[in-house]
Amino acid sequence: MMTLREKYQLLRARTEAICQGLEAEDFVVQPIGDVSPPKWHLGHTTWFFETFVLLPHAPGYPVFNAQYNYVFNSYYETVGARVVRTDRGNLSRPTVADIMRYRAHVDEAMGVFLTTERAFSPELRELLVLGLNHEEQHQELLITDIKYILGHNPLLPTYPTDYAKPAAPDLAAEKQWVNVPEGVYEIGATGQEEFFFDNELGRHKVYLPAYQIQRELVSNTEYLEFIEAGGYADFRYWHAAGWERVKAQGIKAPLYWHQVAGAWHQYTPAGLVALPLSKPVGHLSYYEAWAYAQWRGLRLPTEAEWEVAAPQLSWGSRWEWTESAYLPYPGFMKAEGAIGEYNGKFMVDQLVLRGSSEATTPGHSRATYRNFFPASARWQFTGLRLAKFN
Ligand SMILES: [Fe+2]
Repeated sequence: MMTLREKYQLLRARTEAICQGLEAEDFVVQPIGDVSPPKWHLGHTTWFFETFVLLPHAPGYPVFNAQYNYVFNSYYETVGARVVRTDRGNLSRPTVADIMRYRAHVDEAMGVFLTTERAFSPELRELLVLGLNHEEQHQELLITDIKYILGHNPLLPTYPTDYAKPAAPDLAAEKQWVNVPEGVYEIGATGQEEFFFDNELGRHKVYLPAYQIQRELVSNTEYLEFIEAGGYADFRYWHAAGWERVKAQGIKAPLYWHQVAGAWHQYTPAGLVALPLSKPVGHLSYYEAWAYAQWRGLRLPTEAEWEVAAPQLSWGSRWEWTESAYLPYPGFMKAEGAIGEYNGKFMVDQLVLRGSSEATTPGHSRATYRNFFPASARWQFTGLRLAKFN
């Protein structure tokens, strides 16, 4: 079994490996509010360990730069004022080199601190594992944000992805359905698992009517049929908010799709490539996922339906939009202090996504994992699968 110190070092190295192909200018820009500059992620994940682990638990730790709390605090009101999220791209300082020095400073202190792992209380251990999982979440954000930054540059640059997992498998042309009988099922984390976020607690019963759910994700071929049938031009398939959005923004296909000489292409780290038809469709909003399901005369699964069927599903290459609003499970309580701000305060105006994506750090997700985004988000590796009542 790996020590926390070994896990920490591997994790931190992978974060930097994700940024390896970037030029200095790529680290700085913030083309939309959702996307943070890569250098900000590098600083913020470091700040997390400095603020929540070293300052309270490592006596005598010398703060690298007291001003960084303002720059790299993301959303923790408990920890004080911070740069407005949408201003992250306006920060020419600290420089990338300053932030790499900050990382080295914190890594050195963490390296020493983690040699005392044996003396850690269960609470401190839990906090450290949260810090590791937090940086894994930012690894995925780095991958999605780098893709957005370079994929919206008119030069459509290529970049290396040595850290990447194998690409999504090809999907079968014929969809198989998994049948789930009516019944009372249990979902959620029990609290005994090695790691879970607080939003997965606690395990509870749900009643599900009989339903069927597709074993595989929706493919580019299938989604293309919706586009070619005029799905984006027919209000009947859309929520009002979704319809307004596709009209106002002129959306006619998922993000990163380009038509070149009449043929659909997709932007990837290898540049523009012919749309891989048998791969899962990706980078679409909840509105688009829902409209597609409407057009097929089917629906999205709820998060409980997804979790109950999960052992029989093929998942892991796209975050899957569900029909479920992101709400607290029965008995959910926010933790005291800053860590209580991690998940609970976002339980409004968001939808749950299940599974994981090809950008997710290996081993980061599980069947009880609850990701969440607003209905309009498209920059993540989001996709869908279909369900129906029996
Ligand atoms: Fe964060």
